Amino acid sequence: MKVFLLSTILVLLWVPTAQAEVLLQPDFNATKFSGLWYVVSMASDCKVFLGKKDHLPMSTRAIKATEEGGLHVHMEFLGADSCNQVDAEYLKVGSEGHFRVPALGYLDVRDVDTDYSSFARVYIYKELEGALSALVQLFSRTRDVSPQAPKAFQDFYPMLGLLDDTVLMLPKSGMCIPEIEEEP
Ligand SMILES: *[C@@H]1O[C@H](CO)[C@@H](O)[C@H](O)[C@H]1NC(C)=O
Repeated sequence: MKVFLLSTILVLLWVPTAQAEVLLQPDFNATKFSGLWYVVSMASDCKVFLGKKDHLPMSTRAIKATEEGGLHVHMEFLGADSCNQVDAEYLKVGSEGHFRVPALGYLDVRDVDTDYSSFARVYIYKELEGALSALVQLFSRTRDVSPQAPKAFQDFYPMLGLLDDTVLMLPKSGMCIPEIEEEP
């Protein structure tokens, strides 16, 4: 029954693309999506990711909506002995919630779904060193993930053909947390 419901929803929301058939949040609101997120889980078939999978800490995204409908994304993650920071512009492609990030080799980025206040599921199709791969991320507003979140993620990555052994729940230890500017 659950599988049936899920596939019905998928058919209704399906967004056709060249690379993969991945959903997009209807009426995505970049302003509501702004603020701090923790990347608590990931899955990917990227070889580089799979090689580093056992050593990746939780990372953060401080997001600000841009006037053009894109996102400014400030990422922080723990490197060898200090916090690494990366700033990237997510450029809007057509629909709200659909982006590309040329600087990071992200050819297609989608907010698949979010309730804005607790979780988001993000899909990235990327090119790294000539290899194409899919990456899905589970965002959480808090470091402690809501009990429903991993379940929602388990329902998600297999739809993209990602296997269980490509999934990583990221450890909370040794995290870099950015200072968020207060809204004026
Ligand atoms: C997006 O969310 C913001 C903040 O909640 C709200 O003010 C704005 O009207 C929303 N935009 C749309 C297009 O719904």
